[in-house]
Amino acid sequence: SNELCRKITFPELGDERGNLVVVEGALDIPFEIKRAFFIYGSDATVVRGCHANRFSEFVLINVSGSSKVMVTDGHRKEIINLNRPRDGVYIPKMMWKEMYEFSPDAVLMVLASTHYDGSEYIRNYDDYLKEISK
Ligand code: TYD
Repeated sequence: SNELCRKITFPELGDERGNLVVVEGALDIPFEIKRAFFIYGSDATVVRGCHANRFSEFVLINVSGSSKVMVTDGHRKEIINLNRPRDGVYIPKMMWKEMYEFSPDAVLMVLASTHYDGSEYIRNYDDYLKEISK
């Protein structure tokens, strides 16, 4: 598939006690979850990410607050607003991504298909463009 990314709305099992959002690996998202991390304390001026991953797929969810995600394959570009705990975005491997405009209360949770391996990151945009044009 050549999709840049895919917005996912997760099931919400709310009742009078409050809301419950469930994300099951390989059921609600396209991969089994090997890793979770979250980003908070970034502000509206910070740009995070700025990399592509050769092997990892990700799902990003703003479990609190809001942020934006820009995804590009070097040709097309999409910008996704994440501003509800039940919304996520699936990002396939080898997409360049940037996260920015974090609200003060933003907690951006990231689910990953892999364990961390710094060597699968491409952190320079020109290197990325060269690699995808091969
Ligand atoms: P970085 O990839 O720059 O964060 P972001 O994509 O949110 O901008 O990661 C910051 C540092 O944390 C970097 O030294 C690598 C390390 N790190 C890990 O050790 N494990 C991980 O799972 C992640 C995402 C980062």
